[in-house]
Amino acid sequence: MILETTSPQETQQLGKTIARICEPGDIILLQGTLGAGKTCLVQGMAEGLGIDGPVRSPTFILVNEHYGRHTLYHIDLYRLSSDVEIEALGLDEYFQGDGITVVEWAERAPFLFSFNHLSIMLEDCGESKRRIVLEGIGDRYKNLVHLVG
Ligand SMILES: Nc1ncnc2c1ncn2[C@@H]1O[C@H](COP(=O)(O)OP(=O)(O)O)[C@@H](O)[C@H]1O
Ligand SMILES: [Mg+2]
Repeated sequence: MILETTSPQETQQLGKTIARICEPGDIILLQGTLGAGKTCLVQGMAEGLGIDGPVRSPTFILVNEHYGRHTLYHIDLYRLSSDVEIEALGLDEYFQGDGITVVEWAERAPFLFSFNHLSIMLEDCGESKRRIVLEGIGDRYKNLVHLVG
């Protein structure tokens, strides 16, 4: 599914919609360059889960945990370069937990894509336009994409 948003608010709204239909254990992998709107989308997800307080990219901490209707594990792989570092994070433990895991810069950890997941690719098309491509990998996530649309 291909969408286009024309403001940060619209991207947040999409995140909110997605979060409302997410269930514990869901995995969302975000790809896109710096400024594409990944954190913006996660902010909307947090809102959808009733999480208040700021959601920023966990650039130094790598993983932020937020507690709402469901726990949100917000991971950002931007600072990581080596596979060893990334594997040392034990990300699959978050996947097996009862929270919702969202990963920024997921393309830095190719092994993540072997799990069923919701893939969201964001592209900056200039000014405030963002092209957002949603793809469900596995039945659960294909269904989720249908529910978003
Ligand atoms: N349609 C849009 N969707 C998301 N962000 C947008 C949009 N238009 C402009 N922006 C701006 O782009 C920036 C996106 O930043 P951010 O979400 O932190 O990106 P990323 O986490 O992908 O690096 C913000 O400054 C936001 O205000
Ligand atoms: Mg970010």
